Amino acid sequence: MNEHDSERIAGLLEADGLTQADGVDDADVVVLNTCCIRENADNKLYGTLGHLKSVKDARPDLQIAVAGCLAQKDRHTIVERAGYVDVVLGTHNVHRAADLLKESRAEGRSIVEILEAAVADDHETFASALPAKREVPWAGWITIQVGCDNSCAFCIVPAVRGKEISRSMESILDEVVGAAADGVTEVTLLGQNVNSYGRDLAVTARRAGGDARIRPMFDELLRRVGAVAGIQRVRYTSPHPKDLSAETIAAMAETPAVCEHLHLPLQSGSDRVLAAMHRGYTAERYLERLGRARSAIADLAVTTDIIVGFPGETEEDFERTLEVAAEASYDSAYTFIYSPRPGTEAAERVEDFVAPDVVADRFERLRIVVERSALLRHEDRIGRVEEVLVEGPSRKDAAVLTGRTRQNKLVHFASEPIRPGSYATVRVTGAAPHHLRGDLVEVLRAPTHKTRLPLLVG
Ligand code: 5AD
Ligand code: SF4
Repeated sequence: MNEHDSERIAGLLEADGLTQADGVDDADVVVLNTCCIRENADNKLYGTLGHLKSVKDARPDLQIAVAGCLAQKDRHTIVERAGYVDVVLGTHNVHRAADLLKESRAEGRSIVEILEAAVADDHETFASALPAKREVPWAGWITIQVGCDNSCAFCIVPAVRGKEISRSMESILDEVVGAAADGVTEVTLLGQNVNSYGRDLAVTARRAGGDARIRPMFDELLRRVGAVAGIQRVRYTSPHPKDLSAETIAAMAETPAVCEHLHLPLQSGSDRVLAAMHRGYTAERYLERLGRARSAIADLAVTTDIIVGFPGETEEDFERTLEVAAEASYDSAYTFIYSPRPGTEAAERVEDFVAPDVVADRFERLRIVVERSALLRHEDRIGRVEEVLVEGPSRKDAAVLTGRTRQNKLVHFASEPIRPGSYATVRVTGAAPHHLRGDLVEVLRAPTHKTRLPLLVG
C-alpha cells in the first residue's frame, strides 16, 4: 500500500512537470514516504532528515516533504523536531502532494496537512484515482479499499489508515481499463481486508434511499476485473482468513485471469494467541478455509504472514505455529518478529514481551519449517512447463532472465533476449526454497506497453 502511495506521489509530481532525479544531490524535491507497521520508522526518518538538512543548508531551495503513516501519526512533532521540513502530509492527503509543495514554496513556510479520515463515504474521489508512476510499465497496483475496520491487537493500521472505505466499482474498473490501455497486463488489487470490499458501499447506497443488499462484493469485482480486455493476470492482497468466502473462492476458480495464488495471513497457529490478537478464527477454522480453497482451485500456491514473539507467546503456542505452518504447507511465508507499535493494545503488555533471544531462536526454527515446505512444493514443479511474465535479466547473471509464474514464483531461466513485460513458457529444471530454475520453451506474447526499457541482451 505504501509503495503504491509512493508511485502515486511520483505520478502527481510528474504530472506537475517534475522529472525523476538520479539522487538527492540533483533533486529539487525529496519526498519521504513513511511506513510504521513494523520496526522503528521514527529513528530512520529522523536520521534521514538529519542528512537532508545538511543538503538543504547548502542548497536552501531543496524542498523536503514527509508523507505516509508516520506523518499521520506524528504530524506536528515532525515540524517541531525538524523545522526545515517544508510539507507534512497524511495518508489521506496523498492527492495534495504537488499542490502543498507549490503552496509551501510560494508562501515560504512549512505546511502540515493531515486529514483524520478519507473524505467520509466519498467513494468516487478516492485517492487512488490519481496518476501513478508505475515502477514497471506492465504491472499495476490498483487500490480498491483504504483503512481497516478490524482491531488486531498488534496492528497500527486502523490508527493510521482510518476506517474501511471501498472505492466504487466503476472507478476501479475505469482505472483497470486505463491501465490496460497503457499496456498493463497484470494488476494487483490492494486493500487491508479485501473480502469486505463493498460492504460500506451498500450501506451508503441504502442511506441514500436505495435498497442495496449489504454484502461483500469482492467476488463480483474479481470477475469484472478479470474480464477487462488485455488483463492477463489478476492478483490481490490481502484477504482476512475470517472473511474468506465461498463466493471469493468460486470467483477465483472460475475467472481464468485470476492467478492461482492465495496470500492468507495466519499470524499464529495457537488459538490462545489468535484470540489475544483478536483475529476472529482458530487454527482449525483457518486450515478448513484453506482446504476449501485448495480443493476448488487447482494448483493453488499459498503464502502467509506469521508473527513470532507476540506478547505472552509460550513455547507451546509457538510449537502450534510450527505445526500449523507445516500442515498448511506454504509456498512461502513472510515471517516477522513482533514489534510493539505505541498506541496498540499489545504494546501495553510490556510484562509479557518475549525475550529477544527466545524470539530469535523461534524465528529461525520457523524459517526452517517454511523453507522445507517451500522447497518440497517447488521440487514438485520440476518438469512442468509454466507461463512466466518476463521481468528482465537476473541480478546475478545477465545471461539469465527472471520472470514470475502465475503462482508468483520467481523463475531464473536461460533464454534468448526477450523484452521485459513479455509472456513466455519455461520448462522448470530446478528448485530452491525461494525460486525455480528453468529453460525457455517459447515466447508467447510481446509486451504492449510503449517501450521505455532497452531490449535485453541475453
Ligand atoms: N509486529 C510485527 N509484525 C506485524 N505485522 C503487522 N503489525 C506488526 C507488528 N506490530 C505484520 C502482520 C501483517 C503484515 C503486513 O505485517 O503479519 O500481516
Ligand atoms: Fe491490521 Fe488486522 Fe486490519 Fe490487517 S486486518 S490491517 S492486521 S488490523
